[in-house]
Amino acid sequence: MAVKKIGIMTTGGDCSGLNAAIANIVRGAATRGWRVVGIMDGTDGLTTAVPNVVELNSCDMPTDMYRIAGSILGNGRAGVMNFEHAAATNKLKQFNEKLRDSIKKLKLDALILVGGNGSLSLAWSNRWIYSDVQLVCIPKTIDMDIPCTERTIGFDTAVQQIVSYCDQLMLTARSHHRWFIVQTMGRACGQLALHSGVAVGARAILIPEIKFDINSLISHITSASHDYGIIMVAEGVRVRGHSGAPAEIISRKLSAAGIVNRTAFPGHIQRAGDTTINDRILSAQMAECAIDAIENNETYVMTGYKNGCCQTIGLADFYAAGRVVDDPNITGMKTSNAYVAPDNPLLEIANGMGIYIGESKKR
Ligand code: F6P
Repeated sequence: MAVKKIGIMTTGGDCSGLNAAIANIVRGAATRGWRVVGIMDGTDGLTTAVPNVVELNSCDMPTDMYRIAGSILGNGRAGVMNFEHAAATNKLKQFNEKLRDSIKKLKLDALILVGGNGSLSLAWSNRWIYSDVQLVCIPKTIDMDIPCTERTIGFDTAVQQIVSYCDQLMLTARSHHRWFIVQTMGRACGQLALHSGVAVGARAILIPEIKFDINSLISHITSASHDYGIIMVAEGVRVRGHSGAPAEIISRKLSAAGIVNRTAFPGHIQRAGDTTINDRILSAQMAECAIDAIENNETYVMTGYKNGCCQTIGLADFYAAGRVVDDPNITGMKTSNAYVAPDNPLLEIANGMGIYIGESKKR
């Protein structure tokens, strides 16, 4: 088998498990005798005069790659030309051409792009950039909003982070007989709030996919056997007639109804935290699947997790499977998103546990 040169690029928001994915790709490549280079800071590393890359060998990588969050390659700098800036300044064509030239200069056989739904959608929409390499994507995001995969790298650790955060909050909540309205990340997708809400035994879970009624929420809280607990709210929840953080809006409404409460925002620690075992194993499965895809000469594919296994899925199928909406960051771009489906089994479970999850699943 010919020696291949592959590149790895981590793009979009960081999350825990990226380093585990990098380490697994490098090890898998080494067993095949391939060379691996890491592109620094996402697409930033392709916009410099000489592409900014580092040689990656399994023997000289940090020992704690499987554990630490972030990406040793970086995910990009603010203020540097990227898809967002290029689109906003009408320079998308030049930007794309620069990426294509840099990839050509690097003489890569394949590029593994570890990215979220924005990066994968961009890769598919601008696929001509990658026509000189085999493009294999690995889905990572704490939001778990990528179609065609049941899991994404970083999600499990993010849920663990929220759960640890809420476990601490519960102690002060009980001491002061207060409710905490915890706002999770997740953009327009409620998976993070749903999973972490079930895991902490929240009294209510509000997600963008299900409408809720404030009066039903209030009566559900006042009828609880406790006078403290967690109300989990996804950042994508909208309250009619109001703008701003949904946790703050709900907090004001609860205060007006005499319910003692505080808001809490775990924020970017959701993207950090030591990588959980599930994310480590998922990153190994996805890395192996990506390397197999390269060996099989596949291109324009992503790795997808289903029923315990990973397999490749065409980027065209990924793009068509989601709800294609305007990208929140890039003018003129469309992103393919997955959401919590109405038949998600966890909704039924939450409902059965007496968690208020909005109006469509009222017990
Ligand atoms: O997509 C990942 C994510 O963490 C979202 O959940 C969140 O809305 C967003 O990124 C935050 O982005 P930033 O780091 O730019 O504030």
